Amino acid sequence: MKFFKNIKREGMVFAALLLTLSGINVYGQNVITRNERKIDADWKFHLGNAASPTLDFNYGINETSFSKAGGANGTAYAIRFNDRNWQKVDLPHDWAVGLPFDYMDNGDQNAHGYKAIGGHYPQNSIGWYRKEFEVDPADSGGRFELRTDGIYRDSKVWVNGYYVGGNYSGYTSATYDITDFIRFGKKNVIAVRVDATHYEGWFYEGAGIYRHVWLNRYNNLHVVSQGGLYVRTENKGKDANVILKTEVINKNTHAVKGTLETLILNREGKVLVHSKVIPLALDINEQKSYNNSLLLPNAQLSNLDNPYLYRAVALVRENGQVVDSVPVRFGVRTFAFDKDKGFFLNGKSVKIKGTSDHQDHAGVGAALLDYLQYYRIGLLKQMGSNAIRTTHNPPTPELLDACDSLGMLVMDETRLLTSGSEYEKEFRDLILRDRNHPSIFLWSIGNEEHYTQRTDIGKRIALNQILLQKELDPSRTATYAANIGNVYHGVNEVIPIRGFNYNLNGADNYHKEHPDQPVIGTEVASTVSTRGIYIKDTVRCYVPDYDSVFPPWASTAETWWSFAAKRDWFMGGFAWTGFDYRGEPTPYKWPNINSHFGIMDMCGFPKTVYYYYNAWWSDSAVMHIAPHWNWQGEEGKEKIVWVNSNTDDVELFLNGKSLGKKKMPINGHLEWKVQYEPGKLEAIGYKDGQKVTYSVETTGRPYQIKLTPSKNVLLADGEDAVVVNVSAVDKQGREVPDASNMVYFDLEGENAAIVGVGNGDPSSHENDKDVRHNWHRSLFNGRAQVIIRSGTNSGTIKLKAFASDVLSSNIELKQINNTAPIK
Ligand code: GAL
Repeated sequence: MKFFKNIKREGMVFAALLLTLSGINVYGQNVITRNERKIDADWKFHLGNAASPTLDFNYGINETSFSKAGGANGTAYAIRFNDRNWQKVDLPHDWAVGLPFDYMDNGDQNAHGYKAIGGHYPQNSIGWYRKEFEVDPADSGGRFELRTDGIYRDSKVWVNGYYVGGNYSGYTSATYDITDFIRFGKKNVIAVRVDATHYEGWFYEGAGIYRHVWLNRYNNLHVVSQGGLYVRTENKGKDANVILKTEVINKNTHAVKGTLETLILNREGKVLVHSKVIPLALDINEQKSYNNSLLLPNAQLSNLDNPYLYRAVALVRENGQVVDSVPVRFGVRTFAFDKDKGFFLNGKSVKIKGTSDHQDHAGVGAALLDYLQYYRIGLLKQMGSNAIRTTHNPPTPELLDACDSLGMLVMDETRLLTSGSEYEKEFRDLILRDRNHPSIFLWSIGNEEHYTQRTDIGKRIALNQILLQKELDPSRTATYAANIGNVYHGVNEVIPIRGFNYNLNGADNYHKEHPDQPVIGTEVASTVSTRGIYIKDTVRCYVPDYDSVFPPWASTAETWWSFAAKRDWFMGGFAWTGFDYRGEPTPYKWPNINSHFGIMDMCGFPKTVYYYYNAWWSDSAVMHIAPHWNWQGEEGKEKIVWVNSNTDDVELFLNGKSLGKKKMPINGHLEWKVQYEPGKLEAIGYKDGQKVTYSVETTGRPYQIKLTPSKNVLLADGEDAVVVNVSAVDKQGREVPDASNMVYFDLEGENAAIVGVGNGDPSSHENDKDVRHNWHRSLFNGRAQVIIRSGTNSGTIKLKAFASDVLSSNIELKQINNTAPIK
């Protein structure tokens, strides 16, 4: 395969288009320009072994590149190493998700969801990857960079046997200049050793190259790749000042003179502003920073309903020819944090209705395809949420892209609160990489550092990080997630925005004693519930699906939100969590393997508490009843019925008979005790004079499987995905809420593939990954999910689902090529 022949990335297409419009031939002969390209397809993978160098492809027992540059004989990073028997994988890839569960009485194992990985499992904790590529000889003379967006963890990278560097962090991006190691016109090999022995967190973290890898080409004179064009804005009445900082580097063997100019384009690609030309003069190996600012007249503000995005494009020219063009999306908006009135976006008060989330989804683990980022943010937005917190680590850039595009605020968090060079660098890299994303409204310098947060050392570390943040991104401010109630000494003395994790009973006094510090709920709730289960089941490890159970440090959704809603100075907060995740099976242990904290389960299926938030966070009329009404054999027994709604009052009817009308308390819910009889339980209420109803009905037995795809058309780019929700319906087409059929899946067509299955059951030990081409998953309380990755041919793909004793079902999805030229 040849790289750098097609200009594929959105930004590049955009820049190419732009330059054509302005009559400049960027891709003129012999001019090497920027091309940043994902290389996710066609990797090879094999487990190594942390306890046996021979099983680790001689790692540590051969003369290697650590003793002589390029020394690679007998290792897995030698060009000629035979990887024919290795598994073929496409990125993103998380090998931990396919490992078996294994019980061990160990806190870390419990917190990570009992996957057989980590220090106790050396045979499963090292992963080796290899990837071949070719570079056209016409490209020699350019600079080449490899970028990894996230590898869990401790990755070491070789190119053609040469060690090019490593990254301990399991969450930050890393870049490697690989120019000197390229073999033009010949086979090149990237090899990566990943060591997931150590944990970084106390939640499932995955293992492997679980984010994108990029192979980037630049001219010798270029804008530096990571954060080289920094764009921020300041409002000036109706206009905006766009403030630009551009870092240019000269890697030529001679000093150069050139020019820099910047364009601003609207969403449709029209050039609105063209800066004046700034002369550049750089010595050999010199990197210089150029500042300028442009007036953008009548700027369209970016807000949560209309997240309007502009583009800034920096153009670097040498001898009049464009040698680099860098497109960056940005938004024009203002943030204000008021000590008395909370958070303001564009001058309007916005309460933070947020969730904290880990990067983990049913079926795929940490290896979320980009589509899943949009899918999950879409679900949260639909619920009425307006913010996410990237707990407790730097996110994948595509999550931020999704938030920019869909209108979701982000609190972007670094892994650890410490300022030793390794961790200071992590925070620095995070800011440089992410600061252009308009969705980010707050940086977080850390979470619940109980050894540090109350101490003078904590205060000094915090100050160091805050100053670093101010230096790199003066447009924003920072918080810290402190679980210490009314305590000021330490980090809280210097933090600009006081973050409360739980402990809200200390918040009023804290605010009274420190009235000048704005306050946000960095982490709240931690309510636990299991979708579709209405009792506490200590054998199967389930908690009732109401808003009623929480660990000692936590609260119900209703408690924290009622607290927040009543206080203007309390900015709102981030509920723990939007989605269940693997690990932290609180309040249980084995055989429970994933958390119950989610407002939605691992698949994104809503629990009862979802409708609480939906009622009080969204503008829609909401009515919902829990539990379902399939209690055959429990006739006459009392059922606790919860109604979540935002209507003025609610009347409940069982088989047409009124069970009473109740006023709906603001930010509350309603409860009835109802003797079960089969039939229909219906709730009716009025909101703004409009009737709102919801009912649950006793259904018949499962009759047919039903497949509901999140969309019907996929791009044939090998990267797109679709989420297919699976349920069972009775003869009348009603979903059966307690169905538990084992469903088998078959996918045909155009090399699309199933990449994972799930059902949201926090105690399920069924495989999320394929075992011998036999994809299957049981329904958990009526639901399961299949995730499909698109192939590369256009055509039709067909998913077939079948189960014994019920009718099968199938759906056809279109896979289309999107290669039409952009006009
Ligand atoms: C918090 C912590 C989270 C999670 C949560 C569970 O203290 O920050 O990562 O563990 O508790 O309630």
